[in-house]
Amino acid sequence: MRTNAFFLGKGGVGKTTLSAAFALSLARSGKRVLVASLDPAHNLGDVLGASLGGEPRQVESGLSALEVDLGAWVERYLEESRAELASTYSYNLSLNLDSFFKIMKYAPGTEEYAVLWAIEHIRRDLSGDFDIVVYDTPPTALSLRFLAMPAISKLWVSELSKLRERILDRRQSITRINPASPVASGCVDKKDDKVYGKLSSIKTRLAGLSALFSDESYIAVIINPDRLSVSEAFRIKDELDRIDIPLSGLCLNKRGVSTAEWTLDRRFAETPLFDFDFLPAGLHDREDLRSIDTSRLAADFLAATGKGTP
Ligand SMILES: Nc1ncnc2c1ncn2[C@@H]1O[C@H](COP(=O)(O)OP(=O)(O)OP(=O)(O)O)[C@@H](O)[C@H]1O
Ligand SMILES: [Mg+2]
Repeated sequence: MRTNAFFLGKGGVGKTTLSAAFALSLARSGKRVLVASLDPAHNLGDVLGASLGGEPRQVESGLSALEVDLGAWVERYLEESRAELASTYSYNLSLNLDSFFKIMKYAPGTEEYAVLWAIEHIRRDLSGDFDIVVYDTPPTALSLRFLAMPAISKLWVSELSKLRERILDRRQSITRINPASPVASGCVDKKDDKVYGKLSSIKTRLAGLSALFSDESYIAVIINPDRLSVSEAFRIKDELDRIDIPLSGLCLNKRGVSTAEWTLDRRFAETPLFDFDFLPAGLHDREDLRSIDTSRLAADFLAATGKGTP
């Protein structure tokens, strides 16, 4: 059941505007909706005319919103990893954790994991209070990286688990041959081994996130009537195809803003298309979001959730 919606697309196409308008219309049709911004440069609060924080705040009846504090999630992720490393490798005093974590903060992947754990928190601890969670996403590069992370990480975690199993097998053999060996005092069984247990728990968490993106989310890509946003949408679709995340809808926002030529090619032939007119007077407050008619998109989304029309 697809009860989450993600709006992706090139910078400035209208991700925040459409996620807010979509969430608002669903809330006003009687759903309990949470809209969450994953963009480190938040402006969801500005669009909704509300002051937001890292945990849900009610914007109006049926609608709550939050802006994920990515910096805080990076710190939390590093702290969690530090505690786990310190307990798992308590015997290894040669590992200088302080200097390791100073570097880890800027290491590739850290920001992506922080986003993933923030989404996991929303799914596990918050989504029970809502029917629908809508995500306003960061720039494409980061969004694609965090969406791909569960699939990529699953590969290396599986390889590490196999390696760990081989190490434990060897330890068992050595212990059998020579019970007096120093190896015999270490763990030889998978079910008691902290490292193996940790890898299994990472695998379970990643499988949950993978299911969230592939089976429980309605992924919409936004374009404007211009070549560059359409090219970016192709890149997003190619990448989603590669990581087996289905694209549910394509949103053409700001229709009529320009007369420049642009075309959609066959790659989007199967994807439902939803149009949203350019509003020349602009959008100034929450009520202006009602000028964006999201009813067809909402109907398609609700059909995917199996919860009927709005
Ligand atoms: N249909 C529309 N009609 C008129 N203006 C629009 C429409 N949709 C969005 N805008 C305006 O376009 C600008 C960019 O929109 P928005 O901030 O939602 O895009 P974004 O994709 O979230 O951008 P970013 O990549 O910076 O997060 C804003 O000024 C917004 O008010
Ligand atoms: Mg935005």
